[in-house]
Amino acid sequence: MTENTIQTVKISRIINDCESVKTIIFKMTGTQPKPGQFVMIWVPGVDEVPMSISACDEAGDWAITVKNVGECTEALHELKVNDYIGVRGPLGNCFYIPPHKDYNIFLVGGGIGMAPLRFLANHLKTSGYTFKVVQGAKVESDLLYMNDFYEYDQKDSKFHVCTDDGSYGEEGFATEIFENLIKDFSQKDFKNTIVYSCGPEEMLYKLFQICEKNNTEFYASLERIMRCGCGLCGLCALDPKGLLVCKDGPIFSYDQLEKMGDFGKYRRDFTGKKIKIE
Ligand SMILES: Cc1cc2nc3c(=O)[nH]c(=O)nc-3n(C[C@H](O)[C@H](O)[C@H](O)COP(=O)(O)OP(=O)(O)OC[C@H]3O[C@@H](n4cnc5c(N)ncnc54)[C@H](O)[C@@H]3O)c2cc1C
Ligand code: FES
Repeated sequence: MTENTIQTVKISRIINDCESVKTIIFKMTGTQPKPGQFVMIWVPGVDEVPMSISACDEAGDWAITVKNVGECTEALHELKVNDYIGVRGPLGNCFYIPPHKDYNIFLVGGGIGMAPLRFLANHLKTSGYTFKVVQGAKVESDLLYMNDFYEYDQKDSKFHVCTDDGSYGEEGFATEIFENLIKDFSQKDFKNTIVYSCGPEEMLYKLFQICEKNNTEFYASLERIMRCGCGLCGLCALDPKGLLVCKDGPIFSYDQLEKMGDFGKYRRDFTGKKIKIE
């Protein structure tokens, strides 16, 4: 069995995270996933879609966190415990983890982008790293995994929350909170800093610019429409180098993003046609 073999699995648990988001838990066999990797989820008779792995434990229980935005995600939301789905994975690359623990580590995300960051935060915590999480959401009811993130908020690890309308936490964007947290950093601090991010591409691009200005190591998890999920169809290609989100990503480093004309500017529709990111 390879990572690309579809496993038919029974849903063992469903958590209602908020109005439009549910976490679905199932048991997988084979390779253990690493933070940042994704799976292709097949809903029989509907479609197959990419989903970040949002948690995984040693017993083989994996979780995905699904925002209902269209046909397949709606079908996933209608499933019940003991229903079956098809799962291929773990696919793609993972977040780079620094070898030593004295880095200033930031996890900055927004909306459903918190899914891979939650898996990363859990891995960092169990491996003994300290880190800061910044979660941004439009409104309070969109905030995710609040109990988990508040659990990480101890000793030097901190959790910062903001909402666009100020309904919970600080009022403002995750990028602004992050800029505020690093405002007193020296050149040496910046050299010893790593930023991991996932969320709307507009936010990722702003974070990239902040990291560019300060010469800071930066990783972003990108989303593009996928068909095969394994490097065959080319639908998730990023110009000009043709890097594939499904195979070379979904995590891209500062050095890769710097040379990526499409980053923050263009994505492809289901026919492969490029459209501007608004
Ligand atoms: C590596 C990766 C990880 C992802 N992780 C998650 C996750 O953890 N949780 C989650 O809820 N979603 C995640 N997504 C996005 C998810 O795959 C799409 O929301 C889903 O495929 C939409 O399918 P649909 O049939 O419900 O929507 P559709 O009816 O096909 O489309 C609805 C809307 O979603 C957009 N869309 C469709 N597919 C994608 C896509 N692959 N990426 C971005 N936008 C898309 C369409 O352009 C359209 O605007 C991830 C995408 C990628 C590439
Ligand atoms: S989804 Fe087919 S090449 Fe990436």
